[in-house]
Amino acid sequence: MALEKNDVLAELGKVLGPDGGPLTDSGTLSDIVVTGGKVFFSITVDAATVQQWEPVRERAEAAIRALPGVSSVLVALTGERAAGRAGGAGQTGTSAAPPRRPHAAAGAGHGPAGIPGVGAIIAVASGKGGVGKSTVAVNLALGLRDLGLKVGILDADIYGPSMPKLLSIRERPETIGGTKLKPIVRYGMPVMSIGFLVEEETPMIWRGPMVMSALTQMLREVEWGALDVMVVDMPPGTGDAQLTMAQQVPLKGAVIVSTPQDLALIDARRGIAMFRRVNVPVVGIVENMSMFICPHCGTRSDIFGHGGARHEAERLGVPFLGEVPLAMDIREKSDAGAPVVAAEPDGAHAQIFRDIAARVRDGFTAASRPAPKIVIEA
Ligand SMILES: Nc1ncnc2c1ncn2[C@@H]1O[C@H](COP(=O)(O)OP(=O)(O)OP(=O)(O)O)[C@@H](O)[C@H]1O
Ligand SMILES: [Mg+2]
Repeated sequence: MALEKNDVLAELGKVLGPDGGPLTDSGTLSDIVVTGGKVFFSITVDAATVQQWEPVRERAEAAIRALPGVSSVLVALTGERAAGRAGGAGQTGTSAAPPRRPHAAAGAGHGPAGIPGVGAIIAVASGKGGVGKSTVAVNLALGLRDLGLKVGILDADIYGPSMPKLLSIRERPETIGGTKLKPIVRYGMPVMSIGFLVEEETPMIWRGPMVMSALTQMLREVEWGALDVMVVDMPPGTGDAQLTMAQQVPLKGAVIVSTPQDLALIDARRGIAMFRRVNVPVVGIVENMSMFICPHCGTRSDIFGHGGARHEAERLGVPFLGEVPLAMDIREKSDAGAPVVAAEPDGAHAQIFRDIAARVRDGFTAASRPAPKIVIEA
């Protein structure tokens, strides 16, 4: 019999918190996500008590791992800073976290708290690596800016951050009042990336709770200011870290990037399934590297096929946001640290990204649009 959320909750009822009461009564549990044999949830506690809770986190993880049918389990422990207490909290570096949420049984539908001043947070994601998420994210952000929106960029790829290179950022963020970080501003947009804080060559090995902690700090301990929209460049894949992020970041919607070929589309479908599982609406699909126009002879070649993502979007009932060609220009400008929308605002590629941006804006501003009904076969 397939593992269900209730099996997990029942088991967690036997795990005791530091006060001797069942973990399920402690009000510290997030929603519990069960995907096949994978289980994810977080325990959010007062930052001052994080150390007392670490053994509880370990016990919870061990208890769930021992359940029949569990292939992997990730329990993140995050410390919430008590309101009004400035700085210094969180000895374990897990000080910034979404406010405490009731566990699923009591509070279904509650998402993580928003970021004060930030209107909408949009994730740019894909199931597969290297399809152009970061390229699309940065040019989409610039496109939204060109539409007159106040835009910020969060590089959530803590394993392989791209924003330092894409935006040619070498400086380190300053701190404000010893507690918050000042984002780096490029093209009028505040930008934050773990790459601003660690050396480019440093191999980054993150345990689950550290991923959460790094991300929540970049969200909540950065002086983002007032933003209409924050574009989040997600890491590739649909593994534990991505799902945790999708759950912890208060996302308004997700933009899925895919190349046209079948293999990438299968992964895109997985990405869509992941967001739907955590109730994040899919704003639509972008087909990147859609076709190649030879810069010399103007001949068009459909290197990865063409139109696959549009078809897939139709099939899944999610909006199709546009096609970005495979173009030398786009790669060169990215490599040079000046994305094409900023470097060549009058060019055809910039226009493509602005059109996509307009559709994305319409998608996330469409108030409480009913979620499209889709069939997932991932
Ligand atoms: N439309 C395009 N035309 C030409 N080159 C592109 C295009 N989109 C992306 N690229 C190039 O492809 C490479 C991968 O792109 P990018 O880093 O944006 O992908 P990603 O999906 O973010 O990768 P990762 O999964 O590693 O985060 C980069 O060298 C980028 O410049
Ligand atoms: Mg990337």
